[in-house]
Amino acid sequence: MANWKTACLTSDVAIDTLALFNVAGTCVLIANLGDEFKAYPPMCPHMEEPLVESGICADGILTCNKHLWQWDMRTGEIRAPAERPSLQILMYDVKVEGDSVLVDLEQELEYEFDEEEDDDDFHW
Ligand code: FES
Repeated sequence: MANWKTACLTSDVAIDTLALFNVAGTCVLIANLGDEFKAYPPMCPHMEEPLVESGICADGILTCNKHLWQWDMRTGEIRAPAERPSLQILMYDVKVEGDSVLVDLEQELEYEFDEEEDDDDFHW
């Protein structure tokens, strides 16, 4: 069952930027793509980098500047690198009512990170 919560105002997030909000105790990253808003978990799915600092939005593409991996912000699909095609960004359902951005927090979205992986054994 949907659990819609107000995350922010539409004016809180400029076009092609990301902003982090505490929504009823859950950290949610809100992106303004110009014609729609999207909502994601706060961490990069690659290596837990906080995307509010490492994420760059342009033309609907999210780039994490830590290792320059990229995702389609509308579908969540990874664009690069191609060898990890299953590594999508997770997305909450979003709707705009008036000047409010609402997020469906029915379930908190989290990535499963490999505890073994660190910079020393990272390979492209
Ligand atoms: S931590 Fe984001 S691309 Fe590696």
